[in-house]
Amino acid sequence: MALKRPAPPTAPGPTGGVMLRSIAEIRRDPLAFLTRMRGEFGDVVQFPIPDPPTYLVSDPEAARRVLVTNARAYGKRTIQYTTLSLVTGDGLLTADTEQWRPQRRLVQPAFHHESLELVSVHVRAAVDRLLDRWRDRDGKVVDLDEAMMHLALEVVGSALFGSDLSADADRLAKATIEALDIVVKKARSPLSLPMGFPTPTNLVLRRAVRALDNAVDAMLAERTRNPLVAGQKPRDMLDLLLAVHDDGSALSKREVRNQVITFIVAGHETVASALTWAWQLLATHPQVWDRLRAETAPVAAEHGPVFADLARLPYTAAVLDEVLRLYPPAWLITRRSLTDDELAGVKVAAGSLLIVSPWLVHRHESLWVDPEQFRPERFLDEAGQRRRDLVAGAGYLPFGAGPRLCIGRDMALLEGVLVLAALAPRIELSPVGAAPVAMPLVTIRPQGGLPLRLRLLMAK
Ligand code: HEM
Repeated sequence: MALKRPAPPTAPGPTGGVMLRSIAEIRRDPLAFLTRMRGEFGDVVQFPIPDPPTYLVSDPEAARRVLVTNARAYGKRTIQYTTLSLVTGDGLLTADTEQWRPQRRLVQPAFHHESLELVSVHVRAAVDRLLDRWRDRDGKVVDLDEAMMHLALEVVGSALFGSDLSADADRLAKATIEALDIVVKKARSPLSLPMGFPTPTNLVLRRAVRALDNAVDAMLAERTRNPLVAGQKPRDMLDLLLAVHDDGSALSKREVRNQVITFIVAGHETVASALTWAWQLLATHPQVWDRLRAETAPVAAEHGPVFADLARLPYTAAVLDEVLRLYPPAWLITRRSLTDDELAGVKVAAGSLLIVSPWLVHRHESLWVDPEQFRPERFLDEAGQRRRDLVAGAGYLPFGAGPRLCIGRDMALLEGVLVLAALAPRIELSPVGAAPVAMPLVTIRPQGGLPLRLRLLMAK
């Protein structure tokens, strides 16, 4: 049988030889490699991979076409999402076009205004517990990466599932990271064996997934003891997932499990990654921290911060916007084209893999002045208010865009602002040693954690 000849490339890009010579760089610093590829070949780069043809898209309008204006022509059957589904199953994040819409409709009420108001209560409790844990750490080095993972996991557990994960947070955070690190490894290694094979990697992944499954089982058992009373409004996402509808239909146990794991995974490491980089940037930009402290100290001293304080915290929101620009936790968004299309003048055949990298779009010199600089005020207008035109623009994609826009965006922004506002006036952090290397795994994490020296300034 004759082998199918690969189609000729439709966009500039590196040769196979260049890729081979770049293997060490790709391993050591994948973000630098992507930046170099865009610098050398432009806004649509084609990698020398025949099947599927693979493109890196950094042109903001082309990215918008993939995610928003022609979103129907792009699905999620990509290696990244297929591998992630080894952990999450077909939950909302990985579900492809046909199963996705009813899932989104089902869980959307968990993110309505009144549910978000309650998030501030959960954030406050988690911050208080963190300050308790830090009480005897004044003057010592603490790992902000670990602290933010723990905190974000507690918030997602209590806000969405009414579950107190504080006792189990470290174990669960470890299981999530273990599982996601292996997901990344498998997605990057074409030779990785399917889960049925007992390779060391697969065994670690199975163990981590079991730990997550046990946490879900415990949550469900607790809810069986405390079910929704007939006529009562769903209290949180778990009630929505367990609801039996008027026509008698309900999610299967497996479907509930997939959504719970999806929300634990999608809802905590992302927020934790953003907050971790926020502390690193604040620790190295004292003038930004001074301004942040000036805005947040009065709010913290009064009572808060609580949901109603958000309007008083525009600079804090701008700090978070700028952190998400420089360190977008979801640094890659992938899609599979379902039909032929054209992106920024490049013909893209059906079946191609499209890689949109917010990391590159957010550093595009045609959109951002001094893109490498940490300058929160770029997100404020002359009246000192948040620039909504900028956060909704084509050049800013920390939460994706279009129909698959992050469902947790408002919760994440609220949580991020509240954590910064609660901690910024109470602590000081200073760097110890060299700046951390940003490692892009499922999210961007500081390699080896983020050790910073802690000073406690105010009691809770
Ligand atoms: C700073 C924090 C966060 C960032 C940067 C972030 C980023 C993103 C991005 C880029 C997407 C779109 C992926 C794509 O188009 O392929 C997404 C989707 C999603 N996110 Fe987030 N996320 C964050 C927080 C959260 C939180 C707090 C939750 C839930 C509690 C959450 C749950 C989800 C889910 C379920 C989806 C899939 C939505 C759908 O396809 O309908 N995320 N997120």
